[in-house]
Amino acid sequence: MKAITLRNVYYSFDNTFVLENINLEIQQGDYLGIVGPNGAGKTTLLRLILGIIKPHRGQVLIYGQNPEDYLKSEPIGYLPQRISQTLYDFPITVQELVKSGWKKIKKENFEWALDVFKISHLRKKTLRELSGGQRQKAFLARALALRPRILLLDEPTTGIDPYSMEGLLKILESLNRDFAITIVVVTHDIGTFAHEAKCILCLNRRVVCLGEPRKILKDEYISMLYPERTIFPHKDA
Ligand SMILES: Nc1ncnc2c1ncn2[C@@H]1O[C@H](COP(=O)(O)OP(=O)(O)O)[C@@H](O)[C@H]1O
Ligand SMILES: [Mg+2]
Repeated sequence: MKAITLRNVYYSFDNTFVLENINLEIQQGDYLGIVGPNGAGKTTLLRLILGIIKPHRGQVLIYGQNPEDYLKSEPIGYLPQRISQTLYDFPITVQELVKSGWKKIKKENFEWALDVFKISHLRKKTLRELSGGQRQKAFLARALALRPRILLLDEPTTGIDPYSMEGLLKILESLNRDFAITIVVVTHDIGTFAHEAKCILCLNRRVVCLGEPRKILKDEYISMLYPERTIFPHKDA
């Protein structure tokens, strides 16, 4: 079943296309990693899927509906880029934050989301009392408490330590496998997500390549995507 469809999607800022002719089909239960250099249009792509912005040409469909129609009855979980670093001093508690994602969060889903990210004990703490990793988990729990069928994560591993990162990867894998949540994750950790995601999209204004990680990790694609090839630890090592 198709969860997300983009057909001939174009988007521009100030008369410059930042996304061109994007065609993409994400099936229910997929786990897609999106990689690409800064400015490639990754965040813009997520915002199009969420209906926050509309394509200048082409079409975005969520389960066959326009995002705004879909969102009238169904939530989409979203972790915006750098949100936990930006809203670090927000004067609300974890519990208030997690409940703030949607009109009415069911108690069982709220408890489940706290439990998944192992932050139940932190519910009364304010955001400024948390470590960066804990705050990131609180924002992730906020997205998950909606019980969404689709989870969009924009660079969720930025700024968290390797231990938290490993935990996060396990959680995402379980949400995808055990709860059939469709996951789309924007990341610079291509080496890591190549082992996790079922499919990788290399984006640089256009779809550079799309497919299974083992196919995408071939040098020819990587060099097409990142001509300088400086940000891959396995290349520098
Ligand atoms: N609000 C905006 N106004 C003008 N240009 C923007 C705006 N948001 C993003 N852009 C531009 O669009 C391009 C894609 O941005 P973005 O989707 O954030 O890329 P990525 O997430 O891959 O780093 C960049 O060149 C960026 O400068
Ligand atoms: Mg971005």
